Amino acid sequence: MPALEIVDLDAREILDSRGRPTLRVTAATGTLRAAASVPSGASTGRNEAHELRDDDPDRYDGAGVRLAAASVTGELRDLARSQPWSSLADLDRAMVDLDATVGRYRLGANAILGVSMAVSRLFAQQEKQPLWASLRLPGRAARLPVPHFNVLNGGAHADTGLAFQEFMVAPLGAPSTVEAVRAGADVYRHLRKLLAEGGHSVGLGDEGGFAPRLAQPEEALTLLVQAIKNAGYPLGDDGIALALDPAASQFRGEDGSYRIGDARLSSAELVERYCEIVRGFPVWSIEDGMAEDDDAGWRELTDRLGERVQLVGDDNFVTNAKLIRRAAARGIANAALVKPNQVGTVTETLDAIQACRDHGYTWMVSHRSGETGDDFIADLAVGTGAGQIKAGAPARGERVAKYNRLMDIETGHPGLPYGARPGSTR
Ligand code: PGA
Ligand code: ZN
Repeated sequence: MPALEIVDLDAREILDSRGRPTLRVTAATGTLRAAASVPSGASTGRNEAHELRDDDPDRYDGAGVRLAAASVTGELRDLARSQPWSSLADLDRAMVDLDATVGRYRLGANAILGVSMAVSRLFAQQEKQPLWASLRLPGRAARLPVPHFNVLNGGAHADTGLAFQEFMVAPLGAPSTVEAVRAGADVYRHLRKLLAEGGHSVGLGDEGGFAPRLAQPEEALTLLVQAIKNAGYPLGDDGIALALDPAASQFRGEDGSYRIGDARLSSAELVERYCEIVRGFPVWSIEDGMAEDDDAGWRELTDRLGERVQLVGDDNFVTNAKLIRRAAARGIANAALVKPNQVGTVTETLDAIQACRDHGYTWMVSHRSGETGDDFIADLAVGTGAGQIKAGAPARGERVAKYNRLMDIETGHPGLPYGARPGSTR
C-alpha cells in the first residue's frame, strides 16, 4: 500500500449533545476526504489526556475550542503535510511528540484525536476497506459487540438523586445486532411505560436514559428487571443481563466514604453491597465499582467478585496501556473501558486493547456523555473484536448513530459473529 499523502487538515467548532462546543476535523489527500468529531466526558478520570478549551469567558463560558481548531489548522496541518505516512501509528506518534507535554496540554488531546480519527478513515479509504476492517488486530477476529444500553441515568449525568451513574441492559443472548437493538428498544419502551404508571418523570439524562427521582440503586434495578419481563425477554446470560457503571469516584467523599442515599459506606461495605446486588439481580458487569484512587477497595472487589462478574476499569485506567498493565499486576479489575479521547490517539487506544489481550482482560468500547453523530466507536468495537460496546440509550440521534452503524455493518457483512465472547454466543 502506498504511503498516505495528506494535503490538508481543517477543523471547526461544532456542538456536542449537551450543547457545548467540540471539534470536527476534516482530513484530505489529493483524492480522498474524511471527517471526524471528538466527544467529551463529564465524569472524567484524573489522568485523562487534556481537552484544550479556550477559557475565554465571553464565549460558551470558556468552553470554546477555537484554540484546538487552531492547533489542527496550524502545527498539526504542517506536520501532516510534511511527509507521506506509511501508517497511522507513525502520524500519531509524531503528533504526540510535537505536543511534547505529558497530558497533551499544548496542542490539545481533542485536536490530536480528531486528526487521528479522520486520518484513520483516510487509511481505510485508501485500503478500500470499511473502517472496522482496517482497525483489525493480528490474531483477533472481528465481531459484532453486545450493545449495552444505558436506559436509566444517574450520578453526574442526571439530577435523579441516584448515586450510581449508569444502569444498562445488555442483550447477551440475542442472536444478532439487529435483534439486540430491537430488544434494547423494547425494554426502553416498557421502562418508560412502567415509570409513567408509577408516577415517575420520564425526562431524560445526558445519555438518553430516563432520569426518575430514586434514592437507591436497587429501586432502579428492580424497575429494569420488571421492564425486561414486561417486554417478554428472559433475564440473564441467555436473554438480557444488566450492567452497572456506578462511577464511584463521583460519590466518594473527602473522608473516603461512599455516599449512597443518606448512607455513608466504607470500601468494604460498598463491596458487600455489590455482592448483595449481584445475588439479587442478573448483573454481569460492573464498571468503576470503586473510586479511581481506592486501590485497596478495587482489590477487595476483584477478590470477591472477579471470578463471576466483569469488573471494568474506566476512571482508573483512562484507556492507558501502562495503567492497565500496572493494574493487572496488582490484581485490580478484569476488564477495561476503551474511550479513544481518554488517551488521545487511535494508536494508543489500540495499545490499550493490546494490554488487555496480553493480560486476559476483556474490554468494552465506549462513547462519552457528550457525543456527536460520529460513529467511529462502532467500527472500533467491531474491528478489534471487543464483543461489547456502550453508547447510551437506544434513543437520541448521537446515541443511535452508533447502534445504527452496527446494524449497517451486520447487514453488509452477514458472516460476522455477534456476541461478547469469541467462540460462544455471549
Ligand atoms: P463521561 O462518563 O463520558 O461523562 O466521562 C462515561 C463513563 O463514566 O463511563
Ligand atoms: Zn465509566
